[in-house]
Amino acid sequence: TDPALIRNFCIIAHIDHGKSTLADRMLQITGVVEDRQMRAQYLDRMDIERERGITIKSQAVRIPFTALDDRTYTLDLIDTPGHVDFTYEVSRSLAACEGAILLVDAAQGIEAQTLANLYMALENDLTIIPVLNKIDLPAAQPEKYAEELAGIIGCEPSDVLKVSAKTGEGVEELLNEIVNQIPPPVGEADAPARAMIFDSVYDTYRGVVTYVRVVDGHLSPRERIQMMSTRASHEILEIGVSSPEPTKSKGLAVGEVGYIITGVKDVRQSKVGDTITTLNKPAGEMLAGYQEPKPMVFSGLYPIDGTDYPVLRDALEKLQLNDAALAFEPETSAALGFGFRCGFLGLLHLEITRARLEREFNLDLISTAPNVIYRVDMEDGAEHVVTNPSEFPAGKIEAIYEPMVKATLLSPSDHIGQIMELCQDRRGELQGMDYLSEDRVEMRYTLPMAEIVFDFFDALKSRTKGYASLDYEPIGEQQADLVKVDILLQGEPVDAFSAIVHKEKAYAYGVEMTKKLRELIPRQQFEVPVQAAIGARVIARENIRAIRKDVLSKCYGGDISRKRKLLEKQKEGKKRMKMVGRVEVPQEAFISALSTD
Ligand code: GTP
Repeated sequence: TDPALIRNFCIIAHIDHGKSTLADRMLQITGVVEDRQMRAQYLDRMDIERERGITIKSQAVRIPFTALDDRTYTLDLIDTPGHVDFTYEVSRSLAACEGAILLVDAAQGIEAQTLANLYMALENDLTIIPVLNKIDLPAAQPEKYAEELAGIIGCEPSDVLKVSAKTGEGVEELLNEIVNQIPPPVGEADAPARAMIFDSVYDTYRGVVTYVRVVDGHLSPRERIQMMSTRASHEILEIGVSSPEPTKSKGLAVGEVGYIITGVKDVRQSKVGDTITTLNKPAGEMLAGYQEPKPMVFSGLYPIDGTDYPVLRDALEKLQLNDAALAFEPETSAALGFGFRCGFLGLLHLEITRARLEREFNLDLISTAPNVIYRVDMEDGAEHVVTNPSEFPAGKIEAIYEPMVKATLLSPSDHIGQIMELCQDRRGELQGMDYLSEDRVEMRYTLPMAEIVFDFFDALKSRTKGYASLDYEPIGEQQADLVKVDILLQGEPVDAFSAIVHKEKAYAYGVEMTKKLRELIPRQQFEVPVQAAIGARVIARENIRAIRKDVLSKCYGGDISRKRKLLEKQKEGKKRMKMVGRVEVPQEAFISALSTD
């Protein structure tokens, strides 16, 4: 294809503002997908994406479009996810485009992720086309939000396009604006090939499918290519474009977006952000890469049925083929048995991974309370990185560091008070505040990541009646007054309940956990103290009173077979018990205590 006829673009938006629906409409209007094959969210292929109505993996699709000048253009749309956990997927998609549609719900206006994505697009020098969506809604206020949008981008309110992704109104006009406003790709056709990997997906039948954007040169079938970061070389077995089903082609030239298949089996061998060149005419310099996704939130995953451990290991390995951000290593817990310590980008990533493991691999899992990564400096000069609170180092501690985030909160101005209260309670520091319009305010905070990853979002939503939105990015670490709180049963620590918390919140955590466990653990033949402790210092205590649990006492002598049956039954019940020291704890108790609600 002549690069002058190519437009590479993406759609960026806050969650639920209608990206996927707009992509659907574009596919339908241009006839890429026939009406009868059309299904909602055509590009969201994972079941779980469809169910939750969110986009997780980016996808690219080629849309041929005959513009008003009667020429047929190749529009390459790269769909991006909207949730904050998956920002790194957005950044890689942006780097493959020349332009972005900034899509805003005309009934809601600009939200936190609208801004975050806009800034990212501007950093990538993309041409921005501002678009208001959902103008069919009775609650839409297109004039008001066109002004808000224009104010932020620095254009005229009349430059803001208005569409309904649902009815299709304005979508054809938008396609023409893409052709008019977004510049065609530029690259050197005769230079050594350089193609950027912006996605890499494991497919059971085809192996890893690598999505690339060719910047210079040309890639052809059967050619030997080289990954520039690792120098590993592979043969291109298949090359093609998604339109939207995979369609083989004779190659990919300057500016083109498509896929290649080389037969590798693991997405980590075809790394997102890497540059592909050819073996017989290699390029000298790599393209600017992306940041590698780094796990931020850790949690132990354990099978409820211990015999499922190998199934869980296989399942995690399979998911990792397709998810370079998922990390895991084996871990054992006295309370929960054999499992894995897993690293995730955020809570949503954790939830989705867990849901996929349970659904696709038929596993019943228990996950420990999620925690962030801590760095601990010891007085003797040693340094520890802690991803599991129960492995917190013993000895004299010099300093503990925790990860911090820069958070941007957008809200109607009448909720400022509630937001400030919440952020203060979570150890936040206000960095700045701006009015975007008379009644909308942007607040910037630094906050410990640990305070954000659990229930911050829910707390924010409930305090602002759902009107506030949040975006955050990591900004390094900061020293903090943190302590490890252990929970002990009869003096024995229960590893799964150890937590690293701020000094001022340690007491509340101790009281809450000891209360919970007292209610959940059945009485034993002896009294069991439940304690919370920092080191050797007990900060909270509850008692589980003793009971004589003699099942045989009721059937005085008499029927021996009935006695045996009762004993059998008791033994059966014991199997699902975990021993903590001398204390029998039903696994149910651990599970209930660890569940967040
Ligand atoms: P993520 O992919 O999860 O980031 O969300 P999204 O931005 O793709 O949003 P999606 O396309 O899933 O749309 C969110 C909701 O808005 C869905 O219920 C859509 O049916 C609805 N919606 C999208 N566009 C329109 C529109 O133009 N009008 C109306 N009335 N509803 C729309």
